[in-house]
Amino acid sequence: MSILIKNGRIVTATDDYFADIFIEGETVSAIGKNLNFSADEIIEAKGKLVIPGGIDPHVHLEMPFMGAFSSDNYETGTLAAMHGGTTTVIDFVIQSQGKSLYDALHEWQGRATGNVYSDYAFHMAVTDFNSETQLEIKDLIEKEGISSFKTFMAYKGALMIDDRQMVGLMNEVKKYGGIVTVHATNGDIIDYLVAKNIATGNVSPKYHYLSQPEITESEATGRFIDMAYQTGSNSYIVHMTCEEGLNKVRDAQKRNQKVFVETCIQYLVLDASVYDKGFESAKWVMSPPIREIKDQKALWSAINQGVIQTVATDHCPFMWKDKLKGENDFTKIPNGAPGIEHRMELLYSEGVNKGKISLNKMVDISSTSSAKIFGMFPQKGTIAVGSDADIIIFDTEKKHVLSASTHHHHCDYSAYEGHEVIGKAETVILRGKVAIDSGNVNINKGYGKFVKRSKLTNII
Ligand code: URP
Ligand code: ZN
Ligand code: ZN
Repeated sequence: MSILIKNGRIVTATDDYFADIFIEGETVSAIGKNLNFSADEIIEAKGKLVIPGGIDPHVHLEMPFMGAFSSDNYETGTLAAMHGGTTTVIDFVIQSQGKSLYDALHEWQGRATGNVYSDYAFHMAVTDFNSETQLEIKDLIEKEGISSFKTFMAYKGALMIDDRQMVGLMNEVKKYGGIVTVHATNGDIIDYLVAKNIATGNVSPKYHYLSQPEITESEATGRFIDMAYQTGSNSYIVHMTCEEGLNKVRDAQKRNQKVFVETCIQYLVLDASVYDKGFESAKWVMSPPIREIKDQKALWSAINQGVIQTVATDHCPFMWKDKLKGENDFTKIPNGAPGIEHRMELLYSEGVNKGKISLNKMVDISSTSSAKIFGMFPQKGTIAVGSDADIIIFDTEKKHVLSASTHHHHCDYSAYEGHEVIGKAETVILRGKVAIDSGNVNINKGYGKFVKRSKLTNII
């Protein structure tokens, strides 16, 4: 099977030019002006952008969490991702405390295998680092291609590890060329504020937000960075939301410490006024919470300053019936919101179209940097001869309105209901196959492949 994409404007993280692309099988085999090859399929891309398929480095599909399962499974979640131009997702396998990492891996493989539309990889979340867990790290990196290890500094009793475990994990992961990632918020301060609010009858979703002030994030961010400095571990902070957290990263840069940082599209687009809607605010109960306009501005600046490298979604939707469990107690609202489908179009619409970031930057933060940081480059994350043909033909003129009535998430509300955007992934090619064409799906579940990632020797 071969495809010739004609006359598109090809944009990568570094380049921007007009050319044709010839795809043979699963990979790009030629790029050039006026390519005159015969192909099984010709796609006219005049007037459109031709960009690498998106990589979302932070999603939770069918995740057991806070008494429910996130409502998108591997089938619905990765199909929604593909509709939005995200061709690879990295999901989290979560160790149960008291059990092994491999137990968790087998459980997650059982849910994912054969059900996935996009390509996918796994991070391993280590929630119980001990002498037995330690022995599993080497094989996960070298045999399973899982080279990133997630940690939580909050959610005590379920997911949180202490600092001693953190440095132990960092030292072990470093030996084999992996990276430690973190949900950096101070769980103990949050638990204290939560208990205080509940005790005084402050039970509405707004108190979820008020129980996680900025300092809970900046303190943990600084502590994690110091532990990474002490151990020399590769480090990555997930879902950064706020100015003071970013300043901790800037402090690390002053001593020439490399720390990778992710934010999520909701923190760039929404602000804390979402918590002024009574119980409806449960839709945006996530951790960390949505922050202030000043933080939104700080995040966009940090992208341009190179402090933030990736934009994810932390897609973790729950049906409204599950959110309702917290009607009288915000601690019972499962944390998380839908978004996997909208990341690329929101980045274009709110970022490029409004002059906040360049097109090259959009490609970098939505695809290339994730591929580099997590050991998938140049197989993924760019358009180049030999790379997987994961390519989006993106229509920059297409206006549409985000809504639960039209999205592909398996979730009965939208975090962006009524939000108007300009720009849409029109054609989505995954490993040389036109998977989505103007909203029509041409692949079956199971087409998505697990991406074994290499150890991280020379990350950006
Ligand atoms: O609220 C969130 N973010 N839910 C998913 C789990 C996590 O903390 O990333
Ligand atoms: Zn988190
Ligand atoms: Zn998450």
